[in-house]
Amino acid sequence: MGLEEIVKLGLERGFFFPSAEIYSGSPAGFWEYGHLGALLKRKFIDAWHRLMVRRDEMLLVDGSQILPKPVFIASGHLATFADPITRCKSCKSVYRIDRLLEEKLGIKVPERTPPEQIDAIIAEHGFRCPACGGELDKVSLFNMMFGVSLGASGDEGYLRPETCQNIFIDFPRVYKISRRKLPLPLAQVGKSFRNEISPRQSLIRLREFTQAEIEVFFNPRTANEFEKAKTVADKELNMWMGDRVEKITCERAFEKGLVSSWLVAYYLWLVQDFYFRLGINPDKLRFRRLGDDEKAFYAAEAWDLEVLTSTGWMELVACNNRTDYDLGGHQRISGVDLRITEDGETFLPHVFELSMGVDRSLLALLEHGYVQENGRSVLRLHPALAPYTLAVFPLLDRPELTQVAQRLYSMLQLDFDTFYDEKGSIGRRYRRQDEIGTPFCITVDYQTLEDNTVTVRDRDTMKQERVSIDVLKSFISDKLVI
Ligand code: GLY
Repeated sequence: MGLEEIVKLGLERGFFFPSAEIYSGSPAGFWEYGHLGALLKRKFIDAWHRLMVRRDEMLLVDGSQILPKPVFIASGHLATFADPITRCKSCKSVYRIDRLLEEKLGIKVPERTPPEQIDAIIAEHGFRCPACGGELDKVSLFNMMFGVSLGASGDEGYLRPETCQNIFIDFPRVYKISRRKLPLPLAQVGKSFRNEISPRQSLIRLREFTQAEIEVFFNPRTANEFEKAKTVADKELNMWMGDRVEKITCERAFEKGLVSSWLVAYYLWLVQDFYFRLGINPDKLRFRRLGDDEKAFYAAEAWDLEVLTSTGWMELVACNNRTDYDLGGHQRISGVDLRITEDGETFLPHVFELSMGVDRSLLALLEHGYVQENGRSVLRLHPALAPYTLAVFPLLDRPELTQVAQRLYSMLQLDFDTFYDEKGSIGRRYRRQDEIGTPFCITVDYQTLEDNTVTVRDRDTMKQERVSIDVLKSFISDKLVI
């Protein structure tokens, strides 16, 4: 199933659709989630909370989306978070020129290449506007942050381009209150904003998007004395070795120097395990170490956790060793000493980050989960992620059955996302639920009136089990454990 079909399904079933779609000419890169998509997203975040935050005893923060200018002077985003653009002198089309050169000429322009060098590439190849053949203007840098004016004074602020800047500036207070020692992972889920020059492919490159970010603060001197990591020493990481994916244990990854510390190995494994448990095909997930020409400006070591989709490998999680880059910057610009003292040592903590793109993760889960088999379309999402967990049907639209089915629906609807349907053939009702991924369809039939049991039909096997209504809630709950 390709991306185009997933987007079609998303639109038709209302999982997601473009923002302000009733207005023509609305800007690209903004999307809405309808009911099914909003349920899926919520459940994805619940799973992240369970399998990352709770499992690893992380602490949460929930910060402002608008932050003052000094934050982004310190973070380096004002100076460095920019893409190279050019404009056609004739038709005025604007292009993100590094992407365009790669797409049209196969030339990879490294991150942070000075504009003059890109001008030279354009001149050397006689490259012109792909739309009208016109001459391209000189390349300039376009900062991707959205600026905002604060209050009547008009002070400058910015919509955060990554959620983690809150975590860095919140660190001193959260650390102190927590009375915990490093390593200390802080986690946040929320919106980020990037003024992309050419947003594309529905949920893949958005101007407003949701990140689930984890910043692990640690002492670089003791990053290998990390007891938890030893518990996953024999667990395998899917490592891209340049020409193939190799399954390499955490221990070997560390011993071979593929990762910089045990701490990094452990967190790579944790986030990989998260996606495996959610049902991403294990053969379609890999860690790729980024070269110096690809890494973000704050990263000393960078791994992308990538998933294979119909459009190729796509980044899901940026795993960055940000060292003390951010705390150092905030310390310098704020003038506040951000060092901590532990066991007699005073130091500026380092940070390893797992920066997860929520929207594109949902797209990947939909693509991997959507299958067409024997004339039916099925969305094989993990039951814990499926928008609706249950559908309740009376076998026939007859009062003696619909009354019981409606009572059953009332009994379930507060504990599970439950859909009620009594119209049309039972086969068609099953098919409609298959298509939106509902894992369990519960049917009230004439036997129910005799022995208080219902049939529970499994989306994937299409097998039916008779279950007593008395134990139905626990029967379903047991199947939702990830
Ligand atoms: N915080 C890293 C990123 O947004 O990619």
